[in-house]
Amino acid sequence: MQLKNDLLIRAAKGESVERTPVWLMRQAGRILPEYRAVRESVSGFIELAQTPELAAEVTIQPVDLLGVDAAIIFSDILVIPEAMGLPYEMVEKRGPFFPETIQSASDLKKLRVANGTDDLRYVIDAISITKKALNGRVPLIGFAGAPWTIFAYMIEGSGSKTFSKARAMLYREAILSHKLLQMITDSTINYLKAQIDAGVNLVQVFDSWAGILPPDHYKEFSLPYITQICDAIHEVPKTVFAKGAFFVREEMGQLNCETIGLDWNIGIAESRKMIGPDKTLQGNLDPAALYGSPKQVEDATNAMMDQFKGCRHIANLGHGVYPDIDPEMVKIFIQTVKNYR
Ligand code: CP3
Repeated sequence: MQLKNDLLIRAAKGESVERTPVWLMRQAGRILPEYRAVRESVSGFIELAQTPELAAEVTIQPVDLLGVDAAIIFSDILVIPEAMGLPYEMVEKRGPFFPETIQSASDLKKLRVANGTDDLRYVIDAISITKKALNGRVPLIGFAGAPWTIFAYMIEGSGSKTFSKARAMLYREAILSHKLLQMITDSTINYLKAQIDAGVNLVQVFDSWAGILPPDHYKEFSLPYITQICDAIHEVPKTVFAKGAFFVREEMGQLNCETIGLDWNIGIAESRKMIGPDKTLQGNLDPAALYGSPKQVEDATNAMMDQFKGCRHIANLGHGVYPDIDPEMVKIFIQTVKNYR
């Protein structure tokens, strides 16, 4: 299927574009009343994510309602632990919770390497339905968590400010940690390949908890596994978003991927210098900037665009859009990017 709007794919590959493409991390979700309506028709997040027709519907909502240049499949990074044998719950207003976690080598026996097509059939079906319904209007992004971030949830059992159980594991049980990280990596490669077979046009790896590791641990326990994933995927462009990992920008420049996602904690010019000219940069407006007035949102967006001028760029926020942001402000952000020359 030929894409009618392939700005995202061309920008990722460093080809010329008429204007900068724009989408938002977590665009399919609670900022939209239309999402909340679908969400209320089912028992909860997990049922929604596991019902392919509904997952496809909420995936397409931001394309229709906000005018973004890409859809991202509605799912969660935590489907991988579940497919490996460690199910999660999504607790209303609190986030993910794992009734069982990994604490010792014997716990690894509970786990298997996931096969993307069979164990995550519902995501693959949602991708097929979404592709058909999009009919080439915009590219569809597939995604997975980076192995370190998935590991952090599997050890910790929930979100955490410090992820101290997961961080302790890296110090106390390095061999066990590497074993589990390798199982997650193999599962993730299978899963991303299944998403690509089902039709996604680009994949993004989210290392949301990159920034809590010291550089030596990041280089030992995260980067090698992201490297394996990038080296295993050839069919579509790849984006790596490692939140808070400003300390490995140079190493990120060496990854076998097209695009590096930026958060808002470090200057764009500095990131560009460290990453080098051969990658597209994605980001990076402060998500809190959308709490400002319409004029402030427009000014902040234009200021961001000025800083990316002349280099390969995909516009986005520096992290997922916050759930209480007014969709009108998101529209102003998107329209400002589209009008920018
Ligand atoms: O981007 C999109 O619009 C696609 C859908 C998507 C979700 N989660 C849906 C979701 C994506 C790409 C994710 C990724 C994800 N999930 C990450 C990486 C990106 C990031 O934000 O750093 C992480 C760390 C998670 C884990 C997760 N899922 C948490 C911590 C929570 C609870 C906090 C929160 O943001 O709600 C979730 C729940 C979740 N994932 C929701 C949605 C729409 C909200 C649950 C609901 O609607 O009931």
